[in-house]
Amino acid sequence: MRRKKTVLLLGGSGLLGSSLRRELERKIARPDWREEISLLTPSHQELNVLDFCALEHYVSELEPDLIFNCVAHTQVDRAESEPEQAMLYNRDLPKKLGELIKGSRTFLVHYSTDFVFNGEKKTPYTPEDKPDPLCVYGASKLAGEKALMALDLENCAILRTAWLYGPGGRNFVRTILGVCGRNGEARVVDDQKGSPTYSHDLAFWSVKFAENPRSGIFHVVNSGDVTWHGLASEAARLVYPGCPVRPIKSAELNAPATRPAYSVLDNSGFASMLGLELRHWRDALHEYLGQYGFLGGAAQ
Ligand SMILES: NC(=O)c1ccc[n+]([C@@H]2O[C@H](COP(=O)([O-])OP(=O)(O)OC[C@H]3O[C@@H](n4cnc5c(N)ncnc54)[C@H](OP(=O)(O)O)[C@@H]3O)[C@@H](O)[C@H]2O)c1
Repeated sequence: MRRKKTVLLLGGSGLLGSSLRRELERKIARPDWREEISLLTPSHQELNVLDFCALEHYVSELEPDLIFNCVAHTQVDRAESEPEQAMLYNRDLPKKLGELIKGSRTFLVHYSTDFVFNGEKKTPYTPEDKPDPLCVYGASKLAGEKALMALDLENCAILRTAWLYGPGGRNFVRTILGVCGRNGEARVVDDQKGSPTYSHDLAFWSVKFAENPRSGIFHVVNSGDVTWHGLASEAARLVYPGCPVRPIKSAELNAPATRPAYSVLDNSGFASMLGLELRHWRDALHEYLGQYGFLGGAAQ
């Protein structure tokens, strides 16, 4: 009899987590997959992952084959004023998960960020490039990566991603379209360039990767690059044609956290490993806007 594969999804209500949940549930519903995967997505209330005793108990009872960790402190500006909390989520939690799976058959897929880089490069960052974060969030995510790497795990992958948007939470695209709808114009920074990534695409690639996982650090983003202003302009062009999107400089925002001016990630290694083309951000954006009702005129 074939053993049922158990997948534990932590943070299944968040932006990425809800896309992963959807992707895994779609897979389970396929006739050739049913009976083979059991998916557990405990809510924050059911399992507070910062209660490391409860986490240890849960994981050791379940003995999952696979863990996706989507729990993190993701409020980049707020992290500046609560670095201990950011470190607890972004360094100590992955470290604890790494310790729990060491030597076991559980594979851990953990997520990190383009904000581990300082933005001084002019060409896309590869996984081999030296990180040098500019803000507390980036530093705490890098500390999590280092804690995992120090454990020398054969059963853990760190997927660095960037600029996520999707239906499962607050995100830049939806926020900016809301501003366009309310104010008839928007002001957006044009001096930060990155790799916008659709959470559904990342979820699809993550699940594909997890079918045959490998340990290491990988860059997993939609292809192409653009500034926040370029991204906002493209979304506004489609949803609110004629709405002006004015370019501004990061300094005008006075944001507590410093972001890298350039944090485009080179996804070619991951794409060739999976034998997939990671589609362009513009194609993904168009699908998101069409799929979630923005193109009817009213932003969802
Ligand atoms: N968002 C981005 O643009 C972006 C960019 C690059 C990398 N990443 C990385 O991608 C990953 C996912 O990010 P995301 O934006 O999808 O995160 P998110 O939307 O902020 O979701 C975080 C999740 O963690 C859960 N959570 C928080 N505290 C918890 C606790 N103590 N116990 C159990 N669950 C808890 C939240 O549930 P509740 O809401 O119920 O508390 C939520 O489901 C993170 O590693 C992040 O660093 C994100």
